[in-house]
Amino acid sequence: MGLAPLWRLRDRPALPAAAPAEAEPVPAPPVDTPTGNERTRRIAAMGWDELRAAVAECRDCRLCERRKQAVLGVGDVEADWLFVGEGPGVEEDEKGEPFVGQAGKLLDAMLAAIDLRRGRKVYIDNAVKCRPPNNRAPEPDETAACFPYLQRQIGLIRPKLIVALGRPAAETLLNCEIKVGASRGRLHDYRGIPLIVTYHPAYLLRNLADKAKAWEDLCFARRTLKELNDVGG
Ligand code: URA
Repeated sequence: MGLAPLWRLRDRPALPAAAPAEAEPVPAPPVDTPTGNERTRRIAAMGWDELRAAVAECRDCRLCERRKQAVLGVGDVEADWLFVGEGPGVEEDEKGEPFVGQAGKLLDAMLAAIDLRRGRKVYIDNAVKCRPPNNRAPEPDETAACFPYLQRQIGLIRPKLIVALGRPAAETLLNCEIKVGASRGRLHDYRGIPLIVTYHPAYLLRNLADKAKAWEDLCFARRTLKELNDVGG
């Protein structure tokens, strides 16, 4: 019936977004476990300075060819909240910071609506660090090449909650094909960290009717983090 997730092979163990009903739960590896090839293992051992330098110099996929600069991410390196978008656009490529254009203004407004601010317990990141040309979505081989950087950022930040903004971010983190409409409204898991899927701000700028759903998702995210904090004390 085509309802099952379509799995993508990558140099990390596939982590199903939702375990089949009667399957034994598979323990997720700890966030910092180096997996995969030598490059992945090297990146998994990096601190922030090395990571910043490695991303700035990275030439491991074709996106490096047309970038002005790679965009690592911005915010509180001890954030509770990690928001992951798709990839830098033209303004982000120019300024070296994620979400500084129109979509970024909406993201800032979305954050403010739940009493959050860029940089205060919030880290903003992207699935790919270099601008895909002509605002196209990143290709799977590009997100796969960039994934070890995102994975390492998550390992260093150890956020309490991840919000995937749009399909490419969600597919990168969940390692399976998803539709945002079908994936939003429930808790997913990225290696033990709760993950919520919602619409990308750029999509919301074109589809105003879905803003109400994004608002529901943000309220769900805020509730989830509050519950986690209450349990954690
Ligand atoms: N869209 C994204 O997904 N990321 C950015 O940094 C800017 C726009």
